[in-house]
Amino acid sequence: MQNKTEAAMGRAEQVLYKTYNRFPVMFDHGKGVYLYDAEGTEYLDFGAGIAVCALGYGDPEYTEAVKAQTEKLLHTSNLFYNQPVIDAGEKLLKASGMDRVFFTNSGTEAIEGALKIAKKYGFSRDGHGGHEIIAMKHSFHGRSLGALSVTGNQHYQEPFQPLLPGICFADFNDLDSVKALIHDNTCAVILETIQGEGGIYPATEEFLQGVRRLCDEHGLLLILDEIQCGMGRTGAMFAWQNYGVKPDVMTTAKALGNGVPIGAFLACGKAAEVLKPGDHGTTYGGNPLVCAAADKVLEIFEKRNLAAHAGQMGEYLWNTLENLAKRHACIRDHRGVGLIQGLEFSCPVGDIVKRALLEQHLVLISAEHQVIRFVPPLIVTEADIDHMAEKLEQVLPE
Ligand SMILES: Cc1ncc(COP(=O)(O)O)c(C=O)c1O
Repeated sequence: MQNKTEAAMGRAEQVLYKTYNRFPVMFDHGKGVYLYDAEGTEYLDFGAGIAVCALGYGDPEYTEAVKAQTEKLLHTSNLFYNQPVIDAGEKLLKASGMDRVFFTNSGTEAIEGALKIAKKYGFSRDGHGGHEIIAMKHSFHGRSLGALSVTGNQHYQEPFQPLLPGICFADFNDLDSVKALIHDNTCAVILETIQGEGGIYPATEEFLQGVRRLCDEHGLLLILDEIQCGMGRTGAMFAWQNYGVKPDVMTTAKALGNGVPIGAFLACGKAAEVLKPGDHGTTYGGNPLVCAAADKVLEIFEKRNLAAHAGQMGEYLWNTLENLAKRHACIRDHRGVGLIQGLEFSCPVGDIVKRALLEQHLVLISAEHQVIRFVPPLIVTEADIDHMAEKLEQVLPE
């Protein structure tokens, strides 16, 4: 007899577009940092739905807020005002110190908006189009054609060429390589404050401050993608706040909704004035349902001081992983900040991640082929981290 998961997998294979190689697990519900599959097996989650479920699963206050908004009003369109979008917007501006926000449906769409600001900024600055944007090698900004154009990964880009013209790629953490790409028609530099999908590489202070300086000197917009690394994960609300720099444009998503689809691009100073009525729009973006969720997430972040908690747990995770790295020669490097850390192995990590899931019921995700990424819900405790390390150790190669 097939169990529920096997039956569902068979049906899924007939129905869903095959763009993912899924693990043979179907989650049914969650509580705290634990997920439960259709058979009731408990899994410790250190992936948080790819850095999304910051509050963990089933947070009563968050659930109540989403439920209440569901019963009240889901959607009206941006032709009208709604209270949750204003509330969430105010909180996001306060947390970031930016001047304006535009809510989107995903991280990728937030990147699209940021790129449109950059292009129109160049157009307004010089009175013509055809500007260049500098992005980083090994970056990841999303899968739509614009976001893919600034994603420094040949493998993702190749089948979809030609992409946006005017994008060039610098080496991350190499200021000279950015400097060398700046020309009269450059309008912006875009980078992740901590490269996530690329293998958990934080920008060095020297690099990020240097890029900010170059942008100021040459009149370029600095766009920081905080979709994965932002929202409290590094101990600050946004990772760039640890560096003493401020972007002109930033993007956020993932943890902003704790599971409902929402993202945002934010801008300050002259960048906040670039887009005018008619320049950008969305049917769903900023609707009452997702904004009520984001508003509650932002309220809970502040009330429970989640970023500070993430910072403390990040230190504990750091020490725990260092300890593991010392005892296992297969671990080659350890990088990251707060609750976004990675272990680089001397071998591909696919088997480790799979065995952790199926044998130890530990959810981990990889980043590139040789890095395991640790992005748990921000509510993790020291006991959860110990528990994770015990489970992981069981599946590490000799
Ligand atoms: C840094 C970064 N930017 C953009 C994206 C795209 O976001 P989304 O998948 O919500 O469209 C991601 C997704 O992983 C990301 O990590």
